[in-house]
Amino acid sequence: MKGDLLLLCGAIVLLQGVCSCPEKCRCHSSSHSVDCSQQGLAEIPSDLPPQTLTLHLQDNQIQRLPAFAFRSVPQLTTLNLCNNSLSNLALGAFQGLHHLKVLNLTQNSLHSLESRLFHSLPQLRELDLSSNNITHLPTSLGKVWENLTVFAVQQNQLQQLDRALLESMPSVRLLFLKDNLWKCNCHLLSLKLWLEKFIYKGGITDSVICASPDTWKGKELLKIPHELYQPCPFPSLDVGSLRGQQLGSAHQPVPKPPESHSTGERDHPECELKPKPRPANLRHAVATVIITGVVCGIVCLMMLAAAIYGCTYAAVTAQYHGGRLAQTNESVKMEGKELYDSSPA
Ligand SMILES: *[C@@H]1O[C@H](CO)[C@@H](O)[C@H](O)[C@H]1NC(C)=O
Ligand SMILES: *[C@@H]1O[C@H](CO)[C@@H](O)[C@H](O)[C@H]1NC(C)=O
Ligand SMILES: *[C@@H]1O[C@H](CO)[C@@H](O)[C@H](O)[C@H]1NC(C)=O
Ligand SMILES: *[C@@H]1O[C@H](CO)[C@@H](O)[C@H](O)[C@H]1NC(C)=O
Repeated sequence: MKGDLLLLCGAIVLLQGVCSCPEKCRCHSSSHSVDCSQQGLAEIPSDLPPQTLTLHLQDNQIQRLPAFAFRSVPQLTTLNLCNNSLSNLALGAFQGLHHLKVLNLTQNSLHSLESRLFHSLPQLRELDLSSNNITHLPTSLGKVWENLTVFAVQQNQLQQLDRALLESMPSVRLLFLKDNLWKCNCHLLSLKLWLEKFIYKGGITDSVICASPDTWKGKELLKIPHELYQPCPFPSLDVGSLRGQQLGSAHQPVPKPPESHSTGERDHPECELKPKPRPANLRHAVATVIITGVVCGIVCLMMLAAAIYGCTYAAVTAQYHGGRLAQTNESVKMEGKELYDSSPA
């Protein structure tokens, strides 16, 4: 009996040794989740159970992630790194996480992100980058994030967002963009157009409030009419085709400069969105002037024609009357002459 108990204890100890749980974490074997939150951790615990699916590392003081930081937990599907001090992610930090679906990086100190960072996450569905200090995102991911449905970057310091980046996530349904430093110049027009289509297709987003220039400060991007955007100095395909659409086939769509889409954008940050004074009315005014001109011209021509006709008629009539008068005079003379001639006869 005593021996059995000892054996059981030994087995438990052995089992715990195999499926070790890091000192400061709580491991839930049934759900394969490990909770290491609020432990003042400065780095990823090294002895995580390899079959872990969910890893909670929120509310710690982790400052950087080395390459292959999660090598020991390749099955991970959910990773929460919220509220740490991350400012530096090594390029291969998420290498090997082929099954990761949810990555939460909110409330950290990230400044920028490399697209390569996420290359190893083909299955990603939710990426939360809210409440960081991100000033720019990669222009494009280089490849498609086929399954990403949630993308959150609210409360950062973004001034613009490339349409190419959004187009690399064709399944996205929830998009959080609020509280950034959106610069509503010509370059944000493509975001506006993308968002309009996104919402039309049933996507859900919060508001993009302009932070600059002063003209649009506090205004919502989606509520600024298209006409108020001036074309960019190096027009992208989007702006070109928009102008084509707006102004009809008379204008040739501007061809896309090869791969210079966003470098051009960055090179010309001074391009501001200036309000054109009532372009619609201006267009009406031009149309009115043209129509008035044409009508005036026609009226003038008609008046001229009438005048010529009148003059000609008057002249012809005068001539006719003159002729008749002359004839009458002549015939009177003739008659007179005849009378005169015939009288002596
Ligand atoms: C962030 O984590 C710290 C501990 O590192 C905690 O004291 C603080 O309450 C957390 N903040 C939030 C907003 O959860
Ligand atoms: C990330 O964590 C924050 C704070 O816990 C939470 O509000 C947010 O919904 C999470 N994001 C995702 C995509 O789960
Ligand atoms: C997206 O999800 C589907 C279904 O889970 C999967 O078959 C597909 O391989 C995923 N896409 C990528 C790029 O992994
Ligand atoms: C990040 O931004 C916040 C304000 O959004 C600021 O208070 C904080 O100092 C910034 N942190 C870094 C590391 O730049």
